[in-house]
Amino acid sequence: MTDTTQQDRVLIFDTTLRDGEQSPGATMSHDEKLEIAGLLDEMGVDVIEAGFPIASEGDFQAVSDIARNARNAVICGLARANFADIDRCWEAVKHAPRPRIHTFIGTSPLHRDITALTQDAMVDRIQATVAHARNLCDNVQWSPMDATRTEHDYLCRVVETAIKAGATTINIPDTVGYTAPRESADLIRMLLARVPGADTITFATHCHNDLGMATANALAAVEAGARQIECTINGLGERAGNTALEEVVMALKVRNDIMPYRTGIDTTKIMHLSRRVSQVSGFAVQFNKAVVGKNAFLHESGIHQDGVLKNAQTFEIMRPEDIGLTAKNIAMGKHSGRAALRAKMADLGYDLGDNQLKDVFVRFKALADRKKEVYDDDLVALMADAASNAESDHLSLRKLRVICGTEGPQEAELTLSIGGADHFVDATGDGPVDACFNAVKMLYPHGATLDLYQVQAVTEGTDAQATVSVRLSKDGRVFTGQSADTDTVVASVKAYLNALNRMHAGQGRANNAALVTGRTS
Ligand code: KIV
Ligand code: ZN
Repeated sequence: MTDTTQQDRVLIFDTTLRDGEQSPGATMSHDEKLEIAGLLDEMGVDVIEAGFPIASEGDFQAVSDIARNARNAVICGLARANFADIDRCWEAVKHAPRPRIHTFIGTSPLHRDITALTQDAMVDRIQATVAHARNLCDNVQWSPMDATRTEHDYLCRVVETAIKAGATTINIPDTVGYTAPRESADLIRMLLARVPGADTITFATHCHNDLGMATANALAAVEAGARQIECTINGLGERAGNTALEEVVMALKVRNDIMPYRTGIDTTKIMHLSRRVSQVSGFAVQFNKAVVGKNAFLHESGIHQDGVLKNAQTFEIMRPEDIGLTAKNIAMGKHSGRAALRAKMADLGYDLGDNQLKDVFVRFKALADRKKEVYDDDLVALMADAASNAESDHLSLRKLRVICGTEGPQEAELTLSIGGADHFVDATGDGPVDACFNAVKMLYPHGATLDLYQVQAVTEGTDAQATVSVRLSKDGRVFTGQSADTDTVVASVKAYLNALNRMHAGQGRANNAALVTGRTS
């Protein structure tokens, strides 16, 4: 086995809660953000970019609370190149044992046009804002947004300015996923060779996946001298997403022979984080996604199965246990007891207290009554459902009866509890889900638009649970909901109610992508 202790350390900077959450629809509630930050910290992520504090009061609160709860990770907030953003960012991150301010400005010709700044004026702005950030915090990261489309001479000039003004990390973003591995490496080498002081700071790589090269580009940058990779769980992020944390970390682990760099990540926590991020963001992980996809360790073909049974390494380059996929995917059933459920949940990454176990056990028994075998993925879906549908919610499903047939329209008889009082209605629609949603709207007129309705089977078989994700928008705010049930229509109604409960509680998020791509002042 390779001794990695002497190898260069590559810092893992996770931006799931900032660049990931910025992806349209990937809204997370305050509590979910705190939970994900806690899991990232526990997994050994070096820096957590917790949000964009000036974007909204909600973002500010989330970053401050994450900062207060941080244990080992550096907590970073994003700020545009102006004093108000930087001050607000500092107010949020300063509670962390190790805070960082990350400030940026678009430096490519296209971005200079948007900000209407000349090259000289932009240099002055960078000098002033980085120095201001450094006066507040001794850990400052600076990014020239769209670096990969910025003229090299000008990129050297702005990077040198930021270093002189006090930046301790310089991040080189491939904002639009335009670069390719060789160019990504050459850019870092060029900066290291030409910029005075480049050897005194850490270079970071931040890649988007528009051409499917984010992981390759990030690793190439590391080989050229970058020592921080910016990434997200499941590659979540705007458009085609960011570099996936699980991909770069496992690539460095599995191919340590040719990429001799170490990270501080406990890779056995990857699967749990991947599942939680998928659940709370409402972004399903594609089945054939590298490392964390459902099929990543499945061997269907006869030749593959035979080979794997004789020697797992025949077709497996990593072990499922390495990413925290339980080696024993033993199905549970209605005769399984409380102790077995607790052990299984611990195996899946859930540490259940007595009261929580009691509640989950009741839900598990109800599921086992309807489904012969309850698999790991069923239990993960059940946990997510328990978190998103509580008895105490403003809206909850009491009773549902759907009448379907080849002759439409379909009909739904629905009883909802609204603020503690039961209400009944009978509605029709174009299909059972439409009928149910119409019934909900009749009982609870909300004025929101349904932007996304997505169903995914949790496991195989006709008794499989369905996970449903719903996204609503109203007045520029987005509200997501999820639920799982063996009955797809019931799961749909519960997911819809989950989104409406978030709307009722004001737990939506404004689409703040424009803040990043637009003007910087
Ligand atoms: O992609 C990008 O350029 C960014 C910056 C804000 C760092 O996310
Ligand atoms: Zn980005």
